[in-house]
Amino acid sequence: MNNTYKISVLPGDGIGPEVTNETVKVLKACAERFNFKLDFDTQLIGAVSIDKTGIPLTDEVVESCLASDVTLLGAIEDSKYDSDPILEVRPEEGLLKLRQSLGLYANIRAVEISNSSIEQSPLKSAVVDGTDIVIFRELTGGIYSGKKELTTKKDSDFCEYSVSEIERMAHLAFKAAEDRSGRLCLVGKANVLENSRLWRKVVTEIAFDYPDVELTYMYVDNASMQLVSNPKQFDVILTENMFGDILSDLASVLSGSLGRLASSSIGNSAALFESYQDSYSQLKGLNKANPIATILSGALLLDYLGEKEGAKEIIKAVSWTIKEGLSTENVNLNNPISCSSVGNNVVDYIRKKGKMSAIKLVDVEENFLYR
Ligand code: IPM
Ligand code: MG
Repeated sequence: MNNTYKISVLPGDGIGPEVTNETVKVLKACAERFNFKLDFDTQLIGAVSIDKTGIPLTDEVVESCLASDVTLLGAIEDSKYDSDPILEVRPEEGLLKLRQSLGLYANIRAVEISNSSIEQSPLKSAVVDGTDIVIFRELTGGIYSGKKELTTKKDSDFCEYSVSEIERMAHLAFKAAEDRSGRLCLVGKANVLENSRLWRKVVTEIAFDYPDVELTYMYVDNASMQLVSNPKQFDVILTENMFGDILSDLASVLSGSLGRLASSSIGNSAALFESYQDSYSQLKGLNKANPIATILSGALLLDYLGEKEGAKEIIKAVSWTIKEGLSTENVNLNNPISCSSVGNNVVDYIRKKGKMSAIKLVDVEENFLYR
């Protein structure tokens, strides 16, 4: 019997609906070609949910995500909520609630510079060539979820971590390092923060279980500088929530575009896939957004479900579109195609098993799958 998977789709705000739509098309093409079934359940999150229900994520949506095998997310954020410090509700709270409710404690973001992306990088080719980094960012703890005190004189956010929260992250990152180049860098601010000192203590003890992995430590300020001056020194980076948020955006720029990078957020029994890009409201509804990162998140999603062939085919198809210059204007300024055309080309490639009329053999970026 064919496998059937239930996917919650949360298109969200800005360009989210457009890039998600292209990804759903691509996933359907893979299901047809590789003989599995997908059951999509589209729901609201973020500003569109506030507009309709008054809150950024309803309990019904959480329930439907909990009942799904995986969740695909578009983007969250709307500029109309950005600049008001006294707002009662914010779109981003929807995503934070979803992470907590699904127990998505690990966020995994990879940056690999391939031949096809090297020219897009704002850094010199010699600096970025060969970069292949995976950031393991803790996603449900730290300052994001610590106690918050609101008083009339002073507001505070506390950064809290328990030993078990650190341990489960560390094991994931050590396992990934074992499968890669065997190097793990723990990033924190142990010269100042008690919390970072706890991370060091716990991670150093766990390192004895992984004798083939070389563990190093770096302060976050230095790590930001090293990421742009010598990114090749990194293999796996392990860090807490807020540092990971900042470092992953910084690292993504190495490849020249946030619109190209996919990310997975995983927990013990749930997983969510999204690009790292923001909602980019300026392009909303113009059919100009780059859907590649979300389509590649679809590859991670299929890989997670065990549909490895479909996952690899998406990566091949995406590599082909990039090689052929079939890209949106953020990548191909002179001769751009639309968001939906990028999706259609990827679908076409998958349907025709790569036998395209203009096809040249492409380097398949298979290492993209880093789980
Ligand atoms: C990210 C985003 C989110 C975060 C926002 C939208 C809450 O920046 O996924 O990196 O800060 O975690
Ligand atoms: Mg971020």
